[in-house]
Amino acid sequence: MKNFSRRNWLKASMTASAGLFTLGYANGMETGHGSNSLLKNRKEDYYARLSSNENPFGPAGSAKKAIKAAIDDGYLYPRHHRQKLMEAIAEKEGVSTDHILLGAGSTELLQAGARVYGGEKAKILSADPTYTSLVRMAQTGGADWVRVPLTKDMDHQLDAMEAKVSKDLSLLYMVNPNNPTGKILTGDEIKSFCDLVSDKVPVFVDEAYLDYMEDPANSTVTECIKNGKNVIVARTFSKVHAFAGLRVGYCVAQPEVIEKMAKEGPRNTLSGPSMAGAAASLMDESFIQYSVKKNNEGKKYVYDLLNKLGYDYFPSHTNFILFPIQMDGDIFRKKMMEKQVAIKTWNIEGQNYCRVSMGKSDDLEMFADAFKSVAGSSLNKG
Ligand SMILES: Cc1ncc(COP(=O)(O)O)c(C=O)c1O
Repeated sequence: MKNFSRRNWLKASMTASAGLFTLGYANGMETGHGSNSLLKNRKEDYYARLSSNENPFGPAGSAKKAIKAAIDDGYLYPRHHRQKLMEAIAEKEGVSTDHILLGAGSTELLQAGARVYGGEKAKILSADPTYTSLVRMAQTGGADWVRVPLTKDMDHQLDAMEAKVSKDLSLLYMVNPNNPTGKILTGDEIKSFCDLVSDKVPVFVDEAYLDYMEDPANSTVTECIKNGKNVIVARTFSKVHAFAGLRVGYCVAQPEVIEKMAKEGPRNTLSGPSMAGAAASLMDESFIQYSVKKNNEGKKYVYDLLNKLGYDYFPSHTNFILFPIQMDGDIFRKKMMEKQVAIKTWNIEGQNYCRVSMGKSDDLEMFADAFKSVAGSSLNKG
């Protein structure tokens, strides 16, 4: 396996940047993608943030411009920015605006989902492991979690999930692509599953990482909503659009479901600048392509590293990679942090795993150095 050296990395980045100019993404360079501003001021307390699946390659220049412009009318309640963003989303998703609910990040929408479908004696079904924010919020309201383990290869057991669908189930929650595995159900698989079960139970599909899939348009389940099914889709601007700190997300669902969720949750919680930025970013196809391309370069670097060291990993459809380690997760995480690298660890059915988010080349190189020294070579190959 060829080592993706720093020189190759730089070459690839430069080629990518040159390509972006031909794509018309000239303002990508203004956003500082070529240089890591954090590293320039690196202090002793600097650490490579590879634990929260953030995207350091944005926000887009177009989004920053829109955000700055919206600050001047920051004294106004932002109805006009809300309207513009709702219309942009409606057009992109091919639905009317009454199918859409905005939230300050998708977390706020997961909370609304937990309130509508959670509560005393409610039952929420999901795969395990997955992103459990909605489930945990519902549990605090007294709901039960019905979990169906993933297979050893981290795939969904759709038949087992279908078998658990019963009259007393209040919600089926799915994450596609899944977190922390980075694996997917294909568009066809998840759409047929939603069609099959959503007549019996509402299905909430969290598509936070959809844009990293090869064919997002055919992988989303919004088509089921357009066909009248009781399916709720949550999306976030935190990932491919790099808005984690700007907090914008949205749901697409049947209008009566949107109404219920709005009553239980977010009402006018987003700022004008965030919504103006999101509307600009949503339409900035060249930035989205750039963002995905940089992410793919990062994944290639980490795959090459793991191949070289003899580690298995799950090829990822997201901006993070999960792989097994032969070390106690807490110890591994602490040792990596001592080397100024933040990652996350999981213990799944007795096996420890590291989940590393993609970052800029300097941060991934810090990860590679720290990993080599903490875990060494081929530890999980027996
Ligand atoms: C699957 C999934 N859904 C939702 C979120 C929450 O994202 P946000 O609240 O930033 O939109 C995350 C965050 O990492 C996630 O991984």
